[in-house]
Formats: sequence, structure tokens, C-alpha cells
Amino acid sequence: MAKNVAAPRPEALPRHVAVIMDGNGRWAKKRLLPRSAGHTAGMYKVKTIIRQSSDLGIRYLTLYAFSTENWKRPKAEVGFLMKLLIEFLNQELEEMHARNVIFRTIGDVTALPQPVQDVLAGAVEKTRNNTGLTVNIALNYGSRAEIAEAARRAAQDVKAGKITPEEISEELFSGYLETSGQPDPDLLIRTSGEERLSNFLLFQLAYAEFYFTPVLWPDFDEQEYLRALEAYQGRGRRYGGLES
Ligand code: IPE
Ligand code: IPE
Ligand code: MG
Repeated sequence: MAKNVAAPRPEALPRHVAVIMDGNGRWAKKRLLPRSAGHTAGMYKVKTIIRQSSDLGIRYLTLYAFSTENWKRPKAEVGFLMKLLIEFLNQELEEMHARNVIFRTIGDVTALPQPVQDVLAGAVEKTRNNTGLTVNIALNYGSRAEIAEAARRAAQDVKAGKITPEEISEELFSGYLETSGQPDPDLLIRTSGEERLSNFLLFQLAYAEFYFTPVLWPDFDEQEYLRALEAYQGRGRRYGGLES
């Protein structure tokens, strides 16, 4: 058993943590279980990381749950993931609300099955006036599509005379992204040993610290999260300047 990790220093916590929750399938395979069992186990760790982030006082948590590329998976697996999402919200919405969590989605949810859209909309509506941790669940999310859509909307605003091309700065442009108004992620965690972004938050991760761990998502428990935060707190963030 690995040693316990110390509590993170509150003054140096990341404001925004983004997570690519990967490895559910491999977790199940190792146990000779169907991939769906890995997704179910992974769902419990979604609950854990939300709870822990809220307890620690982290302000924003963005979780990659379903990418625009994940439609390539067998229909049955996609269907199972959609069912699991409904189950997750049915089980967790009350607790998230009680914890003052703001629940949001990023990605094109209009392509999701109607019952999924309905529970998502209900959760967003119920928690919209909360003031605690913001949880963004990325569903049918793809960063290139998000950037293209932002460009399209900025172009429309130019065409309508609302803005001029000269006004399009990094800051104004980021206001067209789905994370508009939120700080960029400080820390990106990806589990399962893969070291790539898989089309996640390409614009927003410009200066994030990356933490890759071989731990599979269903095994990513409180200790593993603390380990990631400890690694983050050991990094020197220079943003191109010199260590202060
Ligand atoms: C991540 O686990 C969950 C989703 C992408 C929905 P995977 O299902 O990708 O698990 P692996 O990568 O096959 O192990
Ligand atoms: C990225 O994981 C998407 C999510 C975690 C939702 P994938 O398993 O789909 O990504 P690749 O195929 O390894 O790049
Ligand atoms: Mg994967």
C-alpha cells in the first residue's frame, strides 16, 4: 500500500481542475468483466471527485465523460453510457445541490437522447443559482468543434455589426467558448497511462500543468487525487517568465 499523501496547501490549490477520466474498459478487462462494469465503477469515482473537490474548496471541475469521437463505439456501449448518466444524476443531484454545486455541461448535448437531455436540463436549472463548486461535464464534447463554433459565432457578430474584427482578442474570443467566464484549467489529470488530449480543451489548456498517471479511472480514489494535487503544488509555473 502506498503511503498516505499530505493534505494540499489551501493557498496553492488549482482553481480549475480538468480530468480525462480514462481506463474504464481496461479496468473491467483486467477483472474479466464487461466494459459496462468498468463504466459503472467509474461513475462512483465521479461522485468521489466531485465531493472531494467541493470539500477542498476547488472552484471549477471539468470532467470529460463523452467525446465527439466516442460515437464510434458499439451502439450498446453508447446506450449504456447514456443510461448511466441518467442514473448518476438521479442518484447525485440532491447531494450536489445540497453542496451548493453548480452543474453545467459543455459539448453539443442536443445530439444526446431526449431523456438524457431532459435530466441534464433539470440539473442545470436546479443548480444554476448555487455559488459553490462549478462542475462542467463534457458530453459530446470536442475541442475543435467548440473552437470552430466560437469562430462562427464571432463571425456572425461581426456580420451583424456587434463587434469589429479588430476587437477579437484572446479574451473576447474565449468568451465565445463554452467555458466562457471561467478561469482556464490550472491542472489537467489524465488517468490510464495515455498521454494525449483526445480533443479536450485545446484552447483552455494552453498553460495548464499536465498530470498523467497509469492508475485506471475506477481506481482513482481520494489518495490518488491528493497525489495529483501534491504534484501540481510542486510545479513551478513561469508562464514564459522567470521563477519568482
Ligand atoms: C473512459 O474509459 C470512459 C469513456 C471514454 C466514456 P474508456 O472506456 O475509454 O476505457 P479504456 O480506455 O477502453 O480502458
Ligand atoms: C477520451 O478517452 C474521452 C473520455 C475520457 C470521455 P478515449 O478513451 O475516448 O480517448 P482515446 O481513444 O484513448 O484517445
Ligand atoms: Mg479510453
